[in-house]
Amino acid sequence: MQTKKKKISNGVYIIGTGPGNLKFLSPVSKNIIKSCDIVIASSRLMAFIPKGKKIIRLEGKYKECLEFIQKNALTKKIAVLVSGDPGIFSFSKKVTQILDSSQYEIVPGVSSLQVACARVGLSWDDLSLVSVHGKSLRGLAMKCEANKKVIIFCDNKNTPARIAKYLTRKIKEKAHAVAFGNLSLPDEEIIKSNIISLAKCKKEWKGLWLLLLTK
Ligand SMILES: C[S@@+](CC[C@H](N)C(=O)[O-])C[C@H]1O[C@@H](n2cnc3c(N)ncnc32)[C@H](O)[C@@H]1O
Repeated sequence: MQTKKKKISNGVYIIGTGPGNLKFLSPVSKNIIKSCDIVIASSRLMAFIPKGKKIIRLEGKYKECLEFIQKNALTKKIAVLVSGDPGIFSFSKKVTQILDSSQYEIVPGVSSLQVACARVGLSWDDLSLVSVHGKSLRGLAMKCEANKKVIIFCDNKNTPARIAKYLTRKIKEKAHAVAFGNLSLPDEEIIKSNIISLAKCKKEWKGLWLLLLTK
């Protein structure tokens, strides 16, 4: 049986590039990126774009990029690259909000959370997801107390140690904590601990981090 290759038509392709390592980019996504007129992505994702492609960098230009996408969705093939899976704490949400559903296609990717759970052999069908990316930690303790498994998407300010320190002041239990850094990349790190020890950890938290709390 022969299957026809689907022609990539004009529109917006929101592509999940996976946790960072090029090996995680699916062949489907690779083909779409190759055939697009223009790629919109943050600097961190430049390695996923073939040489010679027109690129618009996302940093500091979110509003302009959204305007460009809205204006050109019918006349161009636009690839918007996002990290991990577009369904999890992603710029994807902003893009789908401004378009009609006929104007975009979401191409799934492997989320950093999937890689984290795979590394420690944990299922994620009962995991509670929290992002503290650019946010305050208020309310986090309540979420952690109410759920057995919580995964927290960190940022450079809200590092695993800072979060653990905050939680030790708010909750009594000595929850197990695993910090996952730069998953799938050459400097991947996994630190298995508990919130009390993690709160005292003085390391430099370079790159991207997730914090898994279980009780
Ligand atoms: C804007 S969110 C995007 C999440 C993405 N959609 C996903 O499915 O992984 C960015 C956050 O994801 C986490 N993250 C993304 N890639 C990671 C990696 N390779 N290792 C650890 N954490 C990662 C970090 O917490 C980072 O601050």
